[in-house]
Amino acid sequence: MKKPVIKVKWGILSTAKIGTSQVIPAMQQGELTEVCAIASRSIDEAKVWAGKLNIPKAYGSYEELLLDEEIEAIYNPLPNHLHVEWTIKSMQYGKHVLCEKPFALRSSDIPSVISLKKKKGLKIGEAFMVKTHPQWLKVKQLIEEGFIGKLELIHGFFSYFNNDPKNIRNIATYGGGALWDIGCYLVMTSRFIFGEEPVNVKASMTYDATFNIDKIVSAILEFPSGKAVFSASTQLVPYQRMQFFGTEKMLEISIPFNAPVEQPAEIIILKGDKFEKTNQVITIPVCNQYTIQFDAFSKAIIEDGEEPVTLEETYLNTKVIEALFRSAGVQKP
Ligand SMILES: NC(=O)c1ccc[n+]([C@@H]2O[C@H](COP(=O)([O-])OP(=O)(O)OC[C@H]3O[C@@H](n4cnc5c(N)ncnc54)[C@H](OP(=O)(O)O)[C@@H]3O)[C@@H](O)[C@H]2O)c1
Repeated sequence: MKKPVIKVKWGILSTAKIGTSQVIPAMQQGELTEVCAIASRSIDEAKVWAGKLNIPKAYGSYEELLLDEEIEAIYNPLPNHLHVEWTIKSMQYGKHVLCEKPFALRSSDIPSVISLKKKKGLKIGEAFMVKTHPQWLKVKQLIEEGFIGKLELIHGFFSYFNNDPKNIRNIATYGGGALWDIGCYLVMTSRFIFGEEPVNVKASMTYDATFNIDKIVSAILEFPSGKAVFSASTQLVPYQRMQFFGTEKMLEISIPFNAPVEQPAEIIILKGDKFEKTNQVITIPVCNQYTIQFDAFSKAIIEDGEEPVTLEETYLNTKVIEALFRSAGVQKP
């Protein structure tokens, strides 16, 4: 007899664009994930999105969602400065939480969340969806197997152009700026691929004087076994790429962060031929990284397993980001 499928019942905290445009539809394709309710500060907005996305329940405040006993887990895509506050509130109502990146704007906020998580027996995680995307798992596996020789250098880039003063990324008090918004991915993936923590970091920032945010960040992270060098920007032509240079070969992820759902992902293998004639491509079958992320998190809830990104990892990532801000401020490593 076929076993009945148990799905985790999720509630969505806000009508954030990332949720309504990409994450909720992806969650609805999940095998272990069920979207049961959405909350907004405006009941009209909540009802509009519940109608459009076929979500059974709509609430006109975040508190009402947390009071719903049917809801087991919360997806928190609020602006960055509200992540910790509403994650803790959700935990106080006994909910598991998958919170958008960056989880916290101060590493010192995280230890108390870890204590509360242990006390309540909840699953809490940061939504770094790249960590469960098969293209990243493949690159990690190839590097660990020595496929490129010894990994010495990671080169990364991530940018887009957004100068809308109302966008949360351009509001300094909300945790705006390039490093918090997208530089966090470059820090996280460099740490993930090296499997180490950096021992020294340097950063240089170009600031937007009107918004008082970093619009370009360039960084060097020195790990025990190699370096990661990257730039991220909120005000440059949209582009993203990750390259992993070994002593024998180089791997390149063509679309590392916004992996499209309608075409296979590609990893390019460069063997050192000057004209790149012998480049090969590894094709990763079409998938949706948000669906994978939520099913992995739901599985951790159902089976009492470890979250795909643990709070301990989040703490270390946040410490590195803080060190980069300090380095840019004093213009020293
Ligand atoms: N993982 C990814 O791929 C990815 C991609 C994009 C963004 N993100 C992250 O997701 C989060 C949301 O990003 P977004 O671009 O979707 O943001 P957004 O469209 O501006 O949505 C944020 C939502 O938060 C609610 N909110 C509560 N208090 C607010 C306040 N004081 N000001 C503004 N909004 C407030 C609003 O919902 P209500 O009006 O319904 O209450 C608003 O719609 C950010 O943390 C971002 O870093 C992740």
